Amino acid sequence: MTAQQSVTATLATIGDYIRWGASRFAAAGLCFGHGTANALDEAAALVLHAIHQPHDLATGFFACALTPEEREAVVALIERRVRERVPAAYLVGEAWFCGLPFYVDARVLVPRSPIAELIQQRFSPWLEDPDGVSDILDLCTGSGCIAITCALAFPQARVDAVDLSPAALEVARINVAKHEVEGQVYPLEGDLYAPVRDRRYDLIVSNPPYVNSAEWQGLPPEYHAEPRIGLESGGDGLDCVRRILKDAEPHLKPGGILVVEVGSSAEALEQAYPQVPFCWLDFERGGDGVFLLTAEQLVIYRNALG
Ligand SMILES: C[S@@+](CC[C@H](N)C(=O)[O-])C[C@H]1O[C@@H](n2cnc3c(N)ncnc32)[C@H](O)[C@@H]1O
Repeated sequence: MTAQQSVTATLATIGDYIRWGASRFAAAGLCFGHGTANALDEAAALVLHAIHQPHDLATGFFACALTPEEREAVVALIERRVRERVPAAYLVGEAWFCGLPFYVDARVLVPRSPIAELIQQRFSPWLEDPDGVSDILDLCTGSGCIAITCALAFPQARVDAVDLSPAALEVARINVAKHEVEGQVYPLEGDLYAPVRDRRYDLIVSNPPYVNSAEWQGLPPEYHAEPRIGLESGGDGLDCVRRILKDAEPHLKPGGILVVEVGSSAEALEQAYPQVPFCWLDFERGGDGVFLLTAEQLVIYRNALG
């Protein structure tokens, strides 16, 4: 009897397979952080996907037994996660952001930005007139998750969604169609502000690449499965962010705001711009390293940012 046959012969219920999967993941030393935070949650996500059940299936069903076919499908998916060391989201082709499902594959970063919380709060209290927001720019859009959820939160606004990677934009277009926001979200290919020419926005939001080269080298395999262009950004991680800051001012309307995630590079940013009073935002659901600057501050600190 193979190891796999012995598992499927011994274990019966959904709960059994979640527990077993979590043990496999822990023993294999997998890394989490692409939508789930630990081995049990990751195992639950894969088991439920393999048996075509929703990710929030009531735990009362965990005592239900699986058929032989379902057991084999579950074990195969759990073993793929261990063998391939890619984020679970790539194996199931889906990631959740702001409570909505997005199609994902290895062309895009797996959505996980804490900016989701700001979108759900419509950037309150930072936008003076949320209902008056008509133009939003999502720089470095990847899967389009930020652009699309901004469009849904501000139904009256046009959202430009820029990415340098044509492959990422193919995924963004799939998600624009999936969420039926074709008339509102415009995926644009190009380098940061280049494709938007002289358009001005009420809100510029970005989760750009911000991992420094040394840190990127040391990341676990799950992160190396993501597009390098989506993570790494030069010796101090700030190559992209510097350019976002330098050219933001002419693209913001008066009263507008710039919101950028820099994650682990927050300290490097503070050191690079000691004169600039970055406002670091707080998150109830965890996460940090997201700053906000107003259009007025971009004018005041123009010389320091240029
Ligand atoms: C950290 S990922 C963010 C994806 C998405 N916004 C999210 O939160 O999941 C960064 C994205 O920036 C894109 N990118 C990198 N350099 C860029 C540039 N110079 N101009 C536009 N996009 C860029 C990458 O292709 C990648 O899709």
